[in-house]
Amino acid sequence: MKNIIVTGGAGFIGSNFVHYVVNNHPHIQVTVLDKLTYAGNEQNLAGLPKERVKLVVGDIANAELVDQLVQDVDAVVHYAAESHNDNSLNDPFPFLQTNIVGTYNLLESCRKYDVRYHHVSTDEVYGDLALREDLPGKGEGPGEKFTAETPYNPSSPYSATKAGSDLLVKAWTRSFNLKATISNCSNNYGPYQHIEKFIPRQITNILSGIRPKLYGEGKNVRDWIHTDDHSSAVWAILTKGRIGETYLIGADGEENNKDVLELILELMDQPKEAYDHVNDRAGHDLRYAIDSSKLRQELGWTPQFTNFREGLKETISWYTDNENWWMADKKAVETNYAKKGQ
Ligand code: NAD
Ligand code: DAU
Repeated sequence: MKNIIVTGGAGFIGSNFVHYVVNNHPHIQVTVLDKLTYAGNEQNLAGLPKERVKLVVGDIANAELVDQLVQDVDAVVHYAAESHNDNSLNDPFPFLQTNIVGTYNLLESCRKYDVRYHHVSTDEVYGDLALREDLPGKGEGPGEKFTAETPYNPSSPYSATKAGSDLLVKAWTRSFNLKATISNCSNNYGPYQHIEKFIPRQITNILSGIRPKLYGEGKNVRDWIHTDDHSSAVWAILTKGRIGETYLIGADGEENNKDVLELILELMDQPKEAYDHVNDRAGHDLRYAIDSSKLRQELGWTPQFTNFREGLKETISWYTDNENWWMADKKAVETNYAKKGQ
């Protein structure tokens, strides 16, 4: 493998993956295909060598452009998506267009040119789980974490379109022998995450003198993974994964939102109670938790950044040091949330 396309490579996780590939795999040339929506930022690729990373600004829903680019590469790693649940509740259409139609275009071109395809998906396709305290095995019994065998049960327009795109990949693999793999990862954190998302929103609220905002009571659990661990897992699957297989990516990082927010407040020297409870998200998934044993045992992957407190400290430093990166968006993001009482 020498030439790869990374769709959505100017977004949060995609750009971290491009940095990971450039830093760790010197023989790879990357073409980033990104529409530069509100969530994409050319700055996320700043400093990367121009001779190894080429940015094509374009839409994966543009079949002609996708076809033109895919014919020249060995693999496509597909990150591009409309990715925010709250936005999908306001206006689902862009989610259908990008997540379903865009994915369809990539699948068709990869099939036509027999190009290796890796599909980056989410644990949200499985719906949600009960809280640990309400489960007989306290979260460790059979069926109490997501596995590749968990039935699909998405809750939001976002997760429904991601589920739909996963099912397209499975159908193209079975019916057309597409050389594809799928990964379903849990919640990522780290640098370059858009400030509409939970962790960066709270950090940048505190940096802006705004009180952090917790949905409902904050008992919802997310399974946090550092985005660099997501990158190494995707690379392992792309290079060593079995065609047709689905791998779940997670780093055993379950935390409820209230605890995460209180940790951010502590690390930023704020009083523990200095936040507001705001309107809950409609259809809010309760708990996500990943069983990543298949990925660990089959491909020998292990996460490296499992100290959440340290990872969060570094993330806070990144947003503190990079105000120029987020400041221009802050007012609009908060105005938008305020309209919904959030
Ligand atoms: P993001 O919103 O930060 O970035 C998405 C990128 O895709 C942006 O650069 C945007 O410009 C680009 N894009 C959007 N529509 C496009 C289109 N039609 N054509 C080309 N480019 C387009 O998202 P993210 O959080 O980095 O997520 C990336 C992928 O990882 C998504 O597929 C998401 O479902 C998946 N995922 C995210 C998480 C998470 O915690 N954020 C966890 C698991 C899986
Ligand atoms: O699980 C993987 C998914 O993680 C990805 O597929 C999505 O693309 C990604 O956005 C993320 O989805 P979530 O909905 O879990 O992430 P978000 O950052 O929006 O919210 C995390 C939790 O924090 C969730 O329970 C809602 C809550 N929340 C969010 C915001 C923005 C708050 O309490 N306050 C907030 O201000």
